[in-house]
Amino acid sequence: MVDRHYTDPRLAAIYDRENAGRWDVDLYLALADELGAAAVTDLGCGTGVLACDLAAQGHEVTGVDPAAAMLDIARARPGAQRVTWVEGTAVDLASASCDLVVLTGHVAQVFLDDEEWRDVLRHVHRALLPGGYLAFESRDPATRPWERWDPASSFATFEPEDGGEAFDSWLGSVEVGPGIVTMLGHTRFRSSGEEIVTASSLRFRAREEIEADLGAAGFAVCALYGDWEKGAFSATSEEMIFVARRD
Ligand SMILES: C[S@@+](CC[C@H](N)C(=O)[O-])C[C@H]1O[C@@H](n2cnc3c(N)ncnc32)[C@H](O)[C@@H]1O
Repeated sequence: MVDRHYTDPRLAAIYDRENAGRWDVDLYLALADELGAAAVTDLGCGTGVLACDLAAQGHEVTGVDPAAAMLDIARARPGAQRVTWVEGTAVDLASASCDLVVLTGHVAQVFLDDEEWRDVLRHVHRALLPGGYLAFESRDPATRPWERWDPASSFATFEPEDGGEAFDSWLGSVEVGPGIVTMLGHTRFRSSGEEIVTASSLRFRAREEIEADLGAAGFAVCALYGDWEKGAFSATSEEMIFVARRD
């Protein structure tokens, strides 16, 4: 089931304001150029920031996402007409259709079930042309990032801008189960005082698990970065940014 943060139009409408950083977008844009990818598929494209930027950079881009509310925002973005938008999941990827598949914004962690995740990798393999690449990131559970997720440090306040509503957001309780972290995201719209509380779960896979799953799906890891400046992955890296080549 897709998280309400992406399916509720009111929450989808504030996604870009809450996630305004460019560091991941810039890395994936540079990567698409370095790899010489003519056709790129952005799986879990959300509001389409990266997909539109890739298209503006000259790549042929398909953005795939199951959340209609996110795609509505993507389709309204300047340059959106250059992108092919698909409401769907990995199952809907066209076979042998692209040179690079990206999953950004920690989309890899929304697949809580391991068999579902392995299936996604198999579909990505099917969608790629031989020698094509898969790039995505996942947070390293060894650094236990959830221990730094709390109401005080996550509290953020957003003023009205571009006709958007003023709201506050923060993380409430965080529950840690085996390999899965579930947190409550709070959003309070200031004009009405309405508060939406949404539970989100993320799967934290260890580096070795991801490498084994990639290998089993027919990928060889060619790079593992530990930060958005492409620093080498180390024991203290919160991010694991994988680039893998399809056989
Ligand atoms: C955190 S957002 C990331 C969006 C975008 N990639 C970004 O970096 O801003 C996670 C996205 O994954 C999408 N998603 C959820 N379940 C999915 C699935 N089964 N297959 C593909 N995408 C999915 C959500 O709809 C949402 O747009």
